[in-house]
Amino acid sequence: MCGIIGINSNKPVSSTIISSLKKLEYRGYDSAGIATLSNGLINEVKSEGRVDNLEKNNLVQNMEGTIGIGHVRWATHGIPNSINAHPHSSQNVSVVHNGIIENSTILKKFLVGKGHKFKSQTDTEVIVHLITEHLKSENVINSIKKTLKLLHGSFALGIIFKEQPDLMIGARRGSPLAVGYGPGENYLGSDSYALKSMTNKISYLNDGEFCIIKKDQVEFYDEDGKKINKKVLELTSEDQKYDKGDYKHFMAKEIEEQPLTLKNGINEYIDNSNKNINIYNFPWKVEDITSIKLIGCGTAYHSCLMAKYWFEQLTSLDVNVDIASEFRYRNHRFKEKTLYIFVSQSGETADTYAALDLCKKNGMKTCSVVNIIESSIARDSEFVLPIHCGTEIGVASTKAFLGQILILYIFALKLGLLRKDIENEVFLQKLNDLKSLPELVEKTLKIDNKIQAISNTFNEAKGSMFLGRGFSYPIALEGALKLKELSYVHAEGYPAGEMKHGPLALIEEGMPVVVLAPRDSYYKKTISNMQEVIARGAKVLLITNKSKDEVLSENIWETIEVESANEDLLPFLLTIPLQKLAYYSALKKGYDIDKPRNLAKSVTVE
Ligand code: AGP
Repeated sequence: MCGIIGINSNKPVSSTIISSLKKLEYRGYDSAGIATLSNGLINEVKSEGRVDNLEKNNLVQNMEGTIGIGHVRWATHGIPNSINAHPHSSQNVSVVHNGIIENSTILKKFLVGKGHKFKSQTDTEVIVHLITEHLKSENVINSIKKTLKLLHGSFALGIIFKEQPDLMIGARRGSPLAVGYGPGENYLGSDSYALKSMTNKISYLNDGEFCIIKKDQVEFYDEDGKKINKKVLELTSEDQKYDKGDYKHFMAKEIEEQPLTLKNGINEYIDNSNKNINIYNFPWKVEDITSIKLIGCGTAYHSCLMAKYWFEQLTSLDVNVDIASEFRYRNHRFKEKTLYIFVSQSGETADTYAALDLCKKNGMKTCSVVNIIESSIARDSEFVLPIHCGTEIGVASTKAFLGQILILYIFALKLGLLRKDIENEVFLQKLNDLKSLPELVEKTLKIDNKIQAISNTFNEAKGSMFLGRGFSYPIALEGALKLKELSYVHAEGYPAGEMKHGPLALIEEGMPVVVLAPRDSYYKKTISNMQEVIARGAKVLLITNKSKDEVLSENIWETIEVESANEDLLPFLLTIPLQKLAYYSALKKGYDIDKPRNLAKSVTVE
C-alpha cells in the first residue's frame, strides 16, 4: 500500500526520508519518489521498483533541502512507472497522496481548460494543479481548504510549496495520517511505524483535518480552517529491532514465532492465579448485548468466520459475519443490542474502517481486534482487544491470524461465562486446555520435511481444493488463500458437505485436494466427503490429528497428523501445515514471499 513521509527540519532531509521510506516497504509498493525544496526550487526524483533504485540515483545522493516529502506507491490509477510515481509537482507545489480521488476525471477537464498541463495518468495530479490554481488568488490555508472541499474520495496528503520554504501541509480524509515531533524537526507519516525510528511522540489527524508543519511547531485545523488542539501520544516502544534474524523470510520467522505470540496473547488475558479471563474496561453490560456481528477482510474475515463457530458453541448469542467491502454498502437494520466486532491486523484496512465508521454513525457498540493499537480502527472503536503479536511484516498473514482467533476464542469464552451460557467447570476446563496451546503449536511446527516434499504437487496442478466442515471450514478457506497469495495458483476453500452440489465436477484424475478432518464431531462425515473425491481421482492430502484409531479410508495420497487437543483448539493446529504448504510452494517457485505480487500489507484504499 502507498506510504507517505514528510520532514521539516533544521538539517538536510533527503537521506532520512529515504531510510524512512524503507520502513514502509512492508506495505507493498511498485514505485517511489522524493521531493525537497532548495534554492527556491522544488527538486523531484522518482523511480520504478524499490526504494533502493531511488537511493542509487545520484540526483538523490546530492539532494539538498531541509524540507521534503517522500512516497512509496501501490498503483491504483496509472501503470506503475516513474512518471506515475509520487510526488507529483507543478512549479509551485509538490504533493504525495494515499487514497483515491473519485472525481479526478471531471477536475482534470476543468484544469486542462484552465491551461494546466498534466504529465501522469494519476488521480493525484489533479490535487497539484488545483492547489496551484487556487494559489493564484488565495493564501496557502484558503487554497488548501478550497482544494480539499472539491475532492471526492479518500486522501492522506503531504504538500510542500515553492513560495513557502518554512512549512509543509498534511491533510486527511479516509486514509490515515500521523504527525511526529522531533528535536528541531517535525514529521508527517502514513503510519506511526514509519515515524517510530525518528520519534515516539505522535498525533493523529482525523478525517477532514489538516495541519501546518514547521520545523519548530505544528498547527492543526478542522475542515473549516478553525485552529484545533491535538493530543500528543507517546508510542509504545518496541524493544527488539524487528528483522529476519537467521530466517530467509519474515513469513518463515512469523510462522515459527507463533508459540511465543500465542503465549503473549494468553498471558495478556488469562489470569492463572484467579483462573479467570481479564477483559479490562469492558464498556457495556453483558445483558445489553444480544447479538454479535463480526466484520473483516481476507484473512481477518476468516478469523471472523472461525469466531462465529466458537461464539455459537460457547454462548447463546446470535452471531453473524460479514466481509467489510460488502457490509459497508448494504442497507442495514441496525439494532441497538448488537455488538460489532472489527477484526484487522493493521487496523488501517479502508473497507473495515468504513464499516466501523458506518456503525459508529448509527450509534452501534463497536469493538476492534487489532495488532497495531495505535491504528485508526483501534483509535476509533469504543473498545479494543489487542492481539499482541508484535510487528507482522509478511504480507501473507500468519501469526496475526492465530492471534486474532485466539483473542476471539478467549472473548467468546468470557462472554459465555458471564452470560451463564457455559458452566464454570466447563469454562475452567477450556481455560486449562488453552494453556497447552503454545506447546501443541510448537510440536506441530516440526512437521516440516513432509510438507516440503508435498508442496510441488500443488505448484504443478492447475488448481486445488481445500475442504473442511464445522470448525475446519474457516481454516480450509484460510489455507486456500495462503496458497493463492503466495504461489499464484488457483486454490478454493469449500465446505466439504457442499462438494456434491456442484464443485465435485471439478475433480479429475490427480487433482490435489486438502481435506481437513480432525477427530472432531464432524470427522466421520468429512471422511465420507473425502471418499467422494478420491473415487473421482483426487490426490487427497488428509490433515488430521494424532489418534490411536486408524483413518477409515484407503487411497489417501498423503496424511499429515497434527497434535491432538480439545476440539476447540484443533483449528489452531490445522492452520500450521497449511501455512507451511503455501510457504514451501512459493519458495520452490522463487517468488517474493514477503511481498507477493499485486498485494499490500495494509489495503488503505477500497
Ligand atoms: C492476509 O494473508 C492477506 N494479506 C489479507 O487478506 C489481509 O488479511 C487483509 O487485507 C486484511 O488486512 P487487515 O487484517 O490488516 O485488516
